Amino acid sequence: MDFKDELSERVKIVDEYMENFLPSDKYPKEIFEAMRYSVFAGGKRLRPIMVMEACKAFGGDWKDSMSFACAIEMIHTYSLIHDDLPALDNDDYRRGRLTSHKVFGENMAILAGKMLLHHAFETMAQACVKFNDIKYTKAMLDIAHGAGVYGMVAGQVVDVLSEGKDINKGTLDFIHENKTAAMIIGALKAGAEIGGACEEDIAKIERAGKLIGVAFQIQDDILDVISTFDKLGKPIHSDEKNNKITYASMFGVERASEMVSEMSDEAVEILKSMNANTDFLVKLTNYLIKRDS
Ligand code: IPE
Ligand code: IPE
Ligand code: MG
Ligand code: MG
Ligand code: MG
Repeated sequence: MDFKDELSERVKIVDEYMENFLPSDKYPKEIFEAMRYSVFAGGKRLRPIMVMEACKAFGGDWKDSMSFACAIEMIHTYSLIHDDLPALDNDDYRRGRLTSHKVFGENMAILAGKMLLHHAFETMAQACVKFNDIKYTKAMLDIAHGAGVYGMVAGQVVDVLSEGKDINKGTLDFIHENKTAAMIIGALKAGAEIGGACEEDIAKIERAGKLIGVAFQIQDDILDVISTFDKLGKPIHSDEKNNKITYASMFGVERASEMVSEMSDEAVEILKSMNANTDFLVKLTNYLIKRDS
């Protein structure tokens, strides 16, 4: 099967589960409508797929990981809704649609974002109670850590404070490692934890996740320069508009692309060295280097 088909198969599974976690017939319907508008706009579902596949790689049943897979996608979607707000990147399109605040107003976009965050934790806590096994609590902790003040939010804070400033590579790495890689690490670690990985492999997957996550953000920065609105479903040149220094502006697109490949190769080596079947995760990593959206 073509790798793109393998991915679509998984996206479909994530969407089916998501449908259950985010019903359309509850009150107040406006908030469910706004949450569903952004969640079902057609994202790549990269993070939930990482949760499922890391779980499988260590011999776990992917179904047991679905509350966590969907929860991380809810958190990711909340971060995108808020990232696009006028006070942050001020972008009008996301996932090929008008952004949440453009359709529902800023008040609803803020509430839909925070509701997705709360709902993610409710969803994970329910699974922790149901399974009553410490590994699920550890998975929730991995995701909380990736999303919070030691992860994504820390990166976003430095990202926002760095706008218009001539930052150095150390600061840029802090931004990328936190705003993006922390959630990728959280996804992989949570899946590995549920799958039953040993501590040594959890440490390895954390290192791989950091490389994959930074490479993923560098590729995002490159696409912001060289891709098109039609391919991305979000505006290009958003970083330039917001006076952001990126790998693409610091090193040039060509060198930045080489760095994406180097980091991905290193991540693949680590994935292959683990006591697990990481074939799919290796294919996914190699696919991400070449992605055009
Ligand atoms: C976009 O993430 C934000 C970044 C961290 C670069 P994705 O590129 O995974 O966005 P979706 O989920 O496919 O829309
Ligand atoms: C966003 O980075 C990372 C988040 C934590 C939301 P960007 O601002 O580069 O993401 P896009 O390009 O808008 O998707
Ligand atoms: Mg941003
Ligand atoms: Mg943005
Ligand atoms: Mg970007």
